[in-house]
Amino acid sequence: MRKILNPTVNSLEPMHTLFQAFKIGSMEIKNRFMRSATTSAWADEQGVIRPEIVNLYEHLSSGDVGLIVKGHLYVTEKGKAHVGMAGISSDMQIPKLKELTDAVHRHGGKILAQINHAGYHSIVERAGPSDYFGGEWKARAMSASEIWDVIEEFGQAAMRAIEAGFDGIQLHGAHGYLISQFLSKRANSRADEWGGMLENRMRFLKEIYHGIRCSLGGDVPIALKMNCDDFSLDGYTVDEATVVARDMAALGIDLIEVSGGGIGQEEVYRERARSLDPDLCEASFAGHAVKIRSATKPKPLALHCSPKGLFAGLSWNHPELVWT
Ligand SMILES: Cc1cc2nc3c(=O)[nH]c(=O)nc-3n(C[C@H](O)[C@H](O)[C@H](O)COP(=O)(O)O)c2cc1C
Repeated sequence: MRKILNPTVNSLEPMHTLFQAFKIGSMEIKNRFMRSATTSAWADEQGVIRPEIVNLYEHLSSGDVGLIVKGHLYVTEKGKAHVGMAGISSDMQIPKLKELTDAVHRHGGKILAQINHAGYHSIVERAGPSDYFGGEWKARAMSASEIWDVIEEFGQAAMRAIEAGFDGIQLHGAHGYLISQFLSKRANSRADEWGGMLENRMRFLKEIYHGIRCSLGGDVPIALKMNCDDFSLDGYTVDEATVVARDMAALGIDLIEVSGGGIGQEEVYRERARSLDPDLCEASFAGHAVKIRSATKPKPLALHCSPKGLFAGLSWNHPELVWT
């Protein structure tokens, strides 16, 4: 914690904000520190988490991290992204996840289940919005009925997450996985109602959100981790991301976490998401986040940040942000 203190900044006032309780939808978190989803790839072959994972999350919570997002959980085995990924596709995965959420709650922390489908990046079956050639791999287009099946699987996964004691859900709409594949014009070349103009490319995300909101009700926090940019030459842009964020905020999403990187990404394009403000330039996506924020305010926004950026961000007078 001491590391955050910056002797060049005169007022310590913004620091206090970090330690103040904060509400995301109906959920109160005890401070504004958030652990972004980070997979440990330690689950067994059935996607059941091992005791080491429970210990890790208990350790985080006992260190007073206010909000933790569990590393991504596949909603169906077909959407598994890597060996050791944990799942929430079957009831038999629930008891161990319940041990994990109990461990976090023992220390007063809150925890969201990040639910995901890898689409083109699946290690079980590469399928996504379109037929797609990724250089060394090929993926096939899902049929409309498969798309509806996946939407249903997201809904089932969300209900299992609540049964397992999670305080809410985070949809993984970033990093080139299935939701962000649908959003990207580069990855999604469908000619039906799931592709083409942005309104159609957003349909998959919106249907998932609607399904989950209808089954869980208005009080359970639903967050979205989304790309601010795919960092590709001809993919999803910050202007599109701003529209998606605005629409999702209007629909009732409770928290938007800004991230980046997707299908066709190239390192060189990452720079365009940065802020030129010297105080903010350490936060990877701060420049784009400012634009997105203008469309989502007053919904809280979360952004990955270094200690210096964190301090600067608070001085920047956006105390409702949750910084990760
Ligand atoms: C080991 C590791 C595992 C990660 N696992 C996930 C994950 O399960 N879900 C997710 O949304 N992001 C995951 N991330 C990404 C981080 O949550 C975070 O978004 C990213 O590191 C921020 O980008 P930056 O480091 O460029 O600022 C992972 C990152 C690392 C290093």
